[in-house]
Order: sequence, then C-alpha cells, then structure tokens
Amino acid sequence: MFNIILFGPPGSGKGTQSEKLIATYGLIHLSTGDLLRSEISRKTPLGLEAKSIMDSGQLVPDEVVVGMISSALDANPVAKGFLFDGFPRTVAQSEALDKLLALKKTTIGIVLALEVSEEELVHRLLNRGLTSGRSDDTNEAVIRARIIEYQNKTSVVADYYSKAGKVVSVKGEGTVDQIFASLCSEIDKRMSI
Ligand code: AP5
Repeated sequence: MFNIILFGPPGSGKGTQSEKLIATYGLIHLSTGDLLRSEISRKTPLGLEAKSIMDSGQLVPDEVVVGMISSALDANPVAKGFLFDGFPRTVAQSEALDKLLALKKTTIGIVLALEVSEEELVHRLLNRGLTSGRSDDTNEAVIRARIIEYQNKTSVVADYYSKAGKVVSVKGEGTVDQIFASLCSEIDKRMSI
C-alpha cells in the first residue's frame, strides 16, 4: 500500500491534480472538503453544523474530519493506497491519521506540497467562484480568511512530516500537465525505494 498526502493552500491545485493521480496510480481519493460538501448537500446534522464554519473560511473541528476519514478507511479494506486531499490540516489530525494508518499496518509514503503565490491563489479561487457554486469562493474576504487559516493552523503540518523526511515541495504554478509530471516524478522515485 502506498499512501500520499497532497498538501497545499486553498486553490493550489490539490483537487485538480488528485483526479489525475488517482487515475494513474489506482488510489482511493479522500478529500475532506468533498466529504463535508456531500454532508451539506444531504442536509445531515453534521453538514448543517459544518456549513457555517466553511462559509466563514474556518476549519471544522478535528474530531469531525477524523471521524469521516476513519469511516472512509474502514470502507475501503482492499485499497492499493489512499490519496489524502485537504487532510490532515492540523497537527492533531496528522497524529490521528498516523494512528489510524498504523492500525492498518501502513503509513504515509510521501507528502507532496504544492507551492503557489497568494495572489495566484486568490485569482484562481475568485475565478472558480464565478461558476463553482461554492459559497466560500465568491467573497475575497473569505478566500483570504481560508489562506490565513492555512498559514496559522495547517502550514505546521508540513513541519510535522518533514521530521520524518516525507515532504517534497513541488512548484504549483505552470500548466496542469507540467505540475502533474513533477508530482509523478516524485512519487515514482519514492515508490521504487
Ligand atoms: P477544501 O474543499 O479542502 O478546499 P481548499 O483546501 O480550500 O481547496 P480548494 O478545493 O479550494 O483548492 P484546491 O487546492 O483543491 O485547488 P483546485 O484543484 O480545486 O476545504 C473547504 C473547507 O472545508 C475548508 O475551508 C474547511 O472549512 C473545511 N475542511 C476541509 N477539510 C478540512 C479538514 N481536514 N479540517 C478542517 N476543516 C476542513 O483548483 C482551484 C482552482 O484553480 C480551480 O478552478 C482549478 O481549475 C484552478 N487550477 C488548478 N490548477 C491550476 C493551474 N495549474 N493553473 C491555473 N489554474 C489552476
């Protein structure tokens, strides 16, 4: 089993690259943002609680997302590996993920960190907000709040995995195909070790 964390700020291309990576490597895509939006569209109690938090650009509580990831791991017992997108976003989530993976006798193989300038992030997300229907994309103040939340709570997740030598930074600006090629090159190096 080979497990990947695709890491980076809002709008850095995690979702876009995840689609291509899961098709190439046969991994299960676990996006906490997608799981939360599915709860919102089904109007579950969890979705109703998460919606106002997401609309303000803040992170939802750790126990909520860890619970969702735990269920998703259990639902895929024969997976070749998992691609985590938008998770973990705090050190507490990282520690919880390590424990969940250890129970399954596996670990994170690589953390790919997409590097994109703040102005490019804002530009991409405002542009997506014109058509996406995502309420957190339409307001520049909320987009900037998401980026600040990333800087304050999520960027330290890279330090957590750096201690284990698992983080590789990848330039996240350029064409989607150029960035995909860079990501594949780093994965292939790690997979062959
Ligand atoms: P989430 O859904 O994870 O959103 P995000 O991290 O804000 O990321 P995005 O989906 O906005 O961006 P992305 O990096 O996937 O980029 P994408 O490929 O879409 O989280 C939403 C909210 O849910 C959070 O704010 C939080 O409230 C909550 N949440 C989720 N997970 C959580 C967790 N673990 N803990 C707590 N709370 C959690 O691309 C963006 C745009 O750019 C697209 O339009 C795309 O077409 C375009 N684009 C992509 N690549 C390129 C390129 N190379 N050049 C030009 N444009 C590009």
